[in-house]
Amino acid sequence: MLARSVLVTGSNRGLGLELVKQLSASKDPPEFIIATCRTPDKAEELKNISTEHRNVHITQLDVSNESSYGGLVSHVQELVGCQGLNLLINNAGYSPKSTRINMVKWQQMSDTLLINTIAPVMLTKALLPLLSTAASDSALDTLSVKRAAIINMSSILGSIGANEQGGLYPYRASKAALNAVTKSLSLDLRRHNILVTSIHPGWVQTDMGGKNAPLTPEVSISEMIKTLYALSEKHNGGFFQYDGEALQW
Ligand SMILES: NC(=O)c1ccc[n+]([C@@H]2O[C@H](COP(=O)([O-])OP(=O)(O)OC[C@H]3O[C@@H](n4cnc5c(N)ncnc54)[C@H](OP(=O)(O)O)[C@@H]3O)[C@@H](O)[C@H]2O)c1
Repeated sequence: MLARSVLVTGSNRGLGLELVKQLSASKDPPEFIIATCRTPDKAEELKNISTEHRNVHITQLDVSNESSYGGLVSHVQELVGCQGLNLLINNAGYSPKSTRINMVKWQQMSDTLLINTIAPVMLTKALLPLLSTAASDSALDTLSVKRAAIINMSSILGSIGANEQGGLYPYRASKAALNAVTKSLSLDLRRHNILVTSIHPGWVQTDMGGKNAPLTPEVSISEMIKTLYALSEKHNGGFFQYDGEALQW
């Protein structure tokens, strides 16, 4: 089992949906998959998965609505009980179009930073007591996703070292900042035995990645799940792509 309990944000489409699909269909699935999305009523594919797999709990969450975090935490606490939450995957993300320097708008910058950077920090803060409980209750004595972890869905476009094309101000800035958040969390939460890693899923055929992307969601996520199984102390505070290859900041 990858982890007893997993919470995925933005799980109604794209990579989040594929994560829930593959985790719920695995041979030894998590006991609790908390699949959050903005509009559960419209999440048809997710609803079908949850009808087939009773361990998939669809939960409403707009990550930019901080006032709803309290209710979410209580709901997750009720589901997972005294063993806490093992794995938080901050997957929900946003990428505005037309963001070259002469086009970029204030609102694009603030919306993107809110969803891609601020929300993962504040959601992590809200769920920290449940993650810490999982880490301290565990019989395991090393860092792992099975024990307790936060995975921030980042992007190679957030790598400053790999940026050779410019542009994409909101998205690049938000993911570079998310990577900085990953590093700080990995240091701050080490004493709680919580692993924190940034992962780039590859360029994937989703609404965000578009049809020309070389990877399907199936391949990206199946490789990523293998990588999640292998994460340990040496990966804490690092930046990796879906297949485990280390990336430059
Ligand atoms: N696809 C790629 O090539 C690629 C490459 C690098 C990194 N990534 C990262 O991977 C993650 C998933 O991307 P994707 O390709 O699956 O994108 P996608 O197909 O566009 O899906 C984005 C998901 O994020 C959700 N979301 C957006 N704003 C939200 C909010 N305020 N609250 C809750 N959910 C919200 C969307 O929900 P709604 O349906 O309600 O809008 C949707 O479920 C993102 O963090 C993205 O930056 C993707």
